[in-house]
Amino acid sequence: MCGVAQAENGATGWLRYSRITEPSALQQYRLLPRRIVQSDTSPIGGNAAAELARGLRSMLGGQFQVDATLPDADAFVLGTPDELHRLLPQWKRPSMLAPEAFALSKLDEHGHHLWIVAGGREKGELYGVFHLLEQVAEQREIVPNAEAPSAAIRWVNQWDNLDGSIERGYAGRSIFFDGGHVRADLTRVSEYGRLLASVGLNGCTVNNVNSDLRTLQPEMLRELARIADALRPWGVRMSLSVDLSSPEVVGHLSTFDPLDPRVAAWWQQKTDEIYKLIPDFGGFVVKADSEGRPGPSQYGRTPAVAANVLARALKPHHGIVLYRGFVYNHHLDWHDLKADRARAGYDNFRALDGKFEPNVVIQIKHGPIDFQVREPVSPLFAALRHTSQAIELQVTQEYAGQQRHMVFLVPMWKIALDTDMRAGNRSTPVKEIVEGKSFHQPLGGFVAVVNVGLDDDWLHHPMAMANLYGYGKLAWNPNLTTDQIIDGWTRLTFGNNPLVVSTIDDLQRNSWHTYEQYTGPLGLGTLTDIIGIHYGPGIESAERNGWGQWIRADHKGIGMDRTVATGTGYIGQYPPELAKVYESLATCPDELLLFMHHVPYNYVLHSGKTVIQHVYDSHYDGAATAATYAPRWEKLHGLIDDERYQRTLALFEYQAGHAIVWRDAVSEWFLRMSGIPDAKGRVGHDPNRIEAEAMQGDGYTPVDVTPWETASGGKAVVCNRAVACTLTTKLEKPEGIYNIAVQYFDIHPGTAQYELLLNGKPITHWAANNIVPPAVSDKKLDGHTSTRFTVHGVWLAPGDRLVLSGVANGAEPAPVDYIEITRP
Ligand code: GCU
Repeated sequence: MCGVAQAENGATGWLRYSRITEPSALQQYRLLPRRIVQSDTSPIGGNAAAELARGLRSMLGGQFQVDATLPDADAFVLGTPDELHRLLPQWKRPSMLAPEAFALSKLDEHGHHLWIVAGGREKGELYGVFHLLEQVAEQREIVPNAEAPSAAIRWVNQWDNLDGSIERGYAGRSIFFDGGHVRADLTRVSEYGRLLASVGLNGCTVNNVNSDLRTLQPEMLRELARIADALRPWGVRMSLSVDLSSPEVVGHLSTFDPLDPRVAAWWQQKTDEIYKLIPDFGGFVVKADSEGRPGPSQYGRTPAVAANVLARALKPHHGIVLYRGFVYNHHLDWHDLKADRARAGYDNFRALDGKFEPNVVIQIKHGPIDFQVREPVSPLFAALRHTSQAIELQVTQEYAGQQRHMVFLVPMWKIALDTDMRAGNRSTPVKEIVEGKSFHQPLGGFVAVVNVGLDDDWLHHPMAMANLYGYGKLAWNPNLTTDQIIDGWTRLTFGNNPLVVSTIDDLQRNSWHTYEQYTGPLGLGTLTDIIGIHYGPGIESAERNGWGQWIRADHKGIGMDRTVATGTGYIGQYPPELAKVYESLATCPDELLLFMHHVPYNYVLHSGKTVIQHVYDSHYDGAATAATYAPRWEKLHGLIDDERYQRTLALFEYQAGHAIVWRDAVSEWFLRMSGIPDAKGRVGHDPNRIEAEAMQGDGYTPVDVTPWETASGGKAVVCNRAVACTLTTKLEKPEGIYNIAVQYFDIHPGTAQYELLLNGKPITHWAANNIVPPAVSDKKLDGHTSTRFTVHGVWLAPGDRLVLSGVANGAEPAPVDYIEITRP
């Protein structure tokens, strides 16, 4: 069967193992053994052997048989060094094979070719097998090779709630929980474990960092043990987020003061209870004194005191504590020009360096604020020199388009990981700090908030899985390049056709930069509705509240002054060499300018442009690039399966429209705030646009949209009656072919119907069925729900009468913002 035509829903992710049909590609695998020897009998070893058989059978056809003993034939032989040595005494052990490392080698024995897949421990075998299968899927030559992971901690966090919802999850409900319990069917959990293992990930925290207090109830622990059972055969250890007030609420003690011996004893007993049920339990993730969560500050204790109590309880079982560095006050005084949320991580943890037990790791978000589209790296990485650290990244695209926009985050993560902090005036890139190398720490590594859900393809957007794949690859080896990562993912996910590969690689590679261009320029952060769902534009929502994501904009200038000289002093938290770069306007990079400095709108950047013109240009450039995604994708029609083709196309068309919403909202807002016009005359001038409120309406009434910048002219129209409402306009366009775009709002409750008629004849109709707009329900007309429908190639002549008819449904009043008519 031709792999291209087959329908695919994305459930297999990058583990498709599609049949190789090109004779030249098959030729190179002609001599691969058909027998697989599994020398170890562990469940992980069993999965490794079965996976190898499954993958090779699927890609190459024919049978691959798994044996326990050496056959009189060519074979793959899987095992740990001891097992292999027993089976093949003449096999030369690799000198040092770390527990999770693998070594792939060849041995000729009694006239047979043996491919040896050695793992330091069973997990290493599994990683070796996935490595081998990846070579075949990418149609590369299999060569002897040895690899070891960069760091011990390569975890994912899932922010799943026990009721089955997922905080900041955009791909359906929880694969773990439903209705307050662990799901009866955990098939998806095993499949998730397999995906994680295939890119070398080894830990999964299954519940929200805003942890439900029922998590540590005895009956819930018994249920949770089933999740651990499902993940274990893939070498993935389960861990839990815990609420530090559990001793009081679950244990019925009168306190949760970490210094109280009864509290320590409770944690010890609870931890022992967990290990009885889950012998390979990974440990605890702790969010405390943050965004309203209880914590040790309630008793005047430090995070170190609290973390150490848990660490001591976990130590005998080899468990660890990941204590989150995301501790800050969200009731900051916005009048105080010295107040600065970005300072919080360093201010809260710096003095505690060296005071943590060896099995405590501080889990630090890569930037000092919160997963914005651009941030500098957190200065805390360089400040902790006697404490293990892990970097926290976010695969779930909370501030990055929520898997409705394509945003490939690996380039952004690479910038963070490669940032040289110059601690002690020497090379200390973040990746080496978290690997534990720079400051010789016993532990360290990588954590990503992933939030896969029950959607068939795990993350909703077919392009989004590149972020999970890329995260795993970087955690294994942070020195891989963006190009290596995206090329591997594309080949595994969509096949090896050169046009497919080059098109998708190019689309993904620049997608983060493009998103940054049309959302938050110059280090301002994603200019989204920060006190809402974090999706569409909401520029001023960051200001005048306690959350501290201020952009400090007024009519004269913009940006947070974080300098030591005149600002909050944040820059002084970096080691001196890096601080010097950021402190001076002459050396601060443009892309972080407004994170570090407050400047007038006409301040001239290194690029030679003024700040304000850069804002306008980057938004227009970014939206223009987003508009190229769909046409570029259309070139792949027929080269990939139709299901994923259509799904991606719909999302790209949606993204093009929503990028215009972003572009217009941010540009208009800056125009109004600065009073400085766009030198290119675009902002505020839309000659091809007809405002709905300016059309002749029947039944439609104008309404104000909040925030004003999320609708053209700040207004839209709504239909509040049972029968259709209409908007009519007489066109005076020169004769020719046009595209007609209708900008409307698709809110979640209800499915309004729209129809366009030209001179009384229907030309198109559609339903506002919110299949594409934001994952999170929003009932308002705003930047989240504003969306666009375009009909292409309509012949228009002067005097034509265009009618848009809208039929309200449920709570959705068929809202319309404007119609735009352009030449194709
Ligand atoms: C963000 C996010 C929250 C989350 C928090 C955290 O603020 O919006 O939903 O709980 O980060 O990382 O703890």
